[in-house]
Amino acid sequence: MQKTSALIVAAGRGTRAGAGILPKQYRMVGGQPVLVRTLRALLAHPAVNDVQVVIHPDDIALYQSAVAGITGLRPPVFGGDTRSGSVLKGLEALAKDAPDFVLIHDAARPFLPLVVIDDLLNALQSAKGAFPALPVVDALWQGEDGHAVAPGDRDGLYGAQTPQSFHFKAILSAHNNATAPADDDVALAVAQGIKVAIVHGSERNYKLTTPADFARAEKETAKMDIRTGNGFDVHAFTEGDAVILCGTKVPHSRALLGHSDADVAMHTITDALFGALAEGDIGQWFPPSEAKWKGAASEIFLRKAVERVAMRGFDICNIDCTIICESPKIGPHASAMRAEIARLCGIGVDRVSIKATTSEKLGFTGREEGIAAMATTTLVKI
Ligand code: CTP
Ligand code: MG
Repeated sequence: MQKTSALIVAAGRGTRAGAGILPKQYRMVGGQPVLVRTLRALLAHPAVNDVQVVIHPDDIALYQSAVAGITGLRPPVFGGDTRSGSVLKGLEALAKDAPDFVLIHDAARPFLPLVVIDDLLNALQSAKGAFPALPVVDALWQGEDGHAVAPGDRDGLYGAQTPQSFHFKAILSAHNNATAPADDDVALAVAQGIKVAIVHGSERNYKLTTPADFARAEKETAKMDIRTGNGFDVHAFTEGDAVILCGTKVPHSRALLGHSDADVAMHTITDALFGALAEGDIGQWFPPSEAKWKGAASEIFLRKAVERVAMRGFDICNIDCTIICESPKIGPHASAMRAEIARLCGIGVDRVSIKATTSEKLGFTGREEGIAAMATTTLVKI
């Protein structure tokens, strides 16, 4: 069984990615450090036996906190002043229990597809080295002082990516014999007369180099954050001549009993919004034990929930509320209720549904002891 190790160079300073922030390999992309994505991409391939990372001595703490919990890693070693210098340090560390094959990869390419690793390892059956590359598609020009001087010929030209895969002994001796640093390991290998095969690279396998690359990576890893919440509330009837439902006065032979204006439907919508945010419920935000909330209009509660939704960066997609009572009849008032909830939530009426049902004279609502309401809401992160 042949052994394959991955060697990840992560000792650079990432100066082109922006000053004053973490070295780029430790920056977060889509909630994960770049280096962790890169490690996982390699460790996910069944042929990769272990991974050697080369780090900068200033980054020990960053490295340790990033890789906590990841298995299959050899102890890190420190890199050199150039990329080639860092690769050599990694190859020397691997030489102690030399693998047959090595995949030398930039920490700054976190989106490496597994199929590229397949192709690289297959190519090593017939060549001492292989690397992924994409044919150059743009016209080429030589420029001087910001002006075009002479056209270039893009025929047969490729943009190189990593990992670059090699028979371990061949690339180690190429590094040992090298007289000057090179941009990549293919350059060192070719200079030593090693034949290096070109396999098909991937658009996804781009290197995070500039702030624009980070912006692209953030966009590509962004997940839709969609939340649903539910609410349920009950208020008993008491003497009176109207009930307030969704901020709308509905004439009735009774009123609803409760703290504030007892708007059972608006309370339930408020609870659904707090629920979607996992921020407790109306009772936690406005404790009934505090006198100042006695008789308060329920729209104060709803406005608070809507404010929290906005503060957390969400939009309300829709609200669906069902009111459960034998009477009063809700249908004639439903459009006024929808309009009022839409106004308070700052959304279109088409996103608010108010429906009603009886409970077939069963239970406390069937006996007309009170009104129950339930609501579902959906939020989306913007
Ligand atoms: N690298 C390294 N040791 C160095 C220089 C670079 O290990 N002395 C690594 C980087 O960490 C990176 C990869 O080589 O994963 C490719 O190099 P590059 O994209 O140039 O990264 P940096 O050198 O960190 O960035 P910059 O050139 O913008 O400073
Ligand atoms: Mg560099």
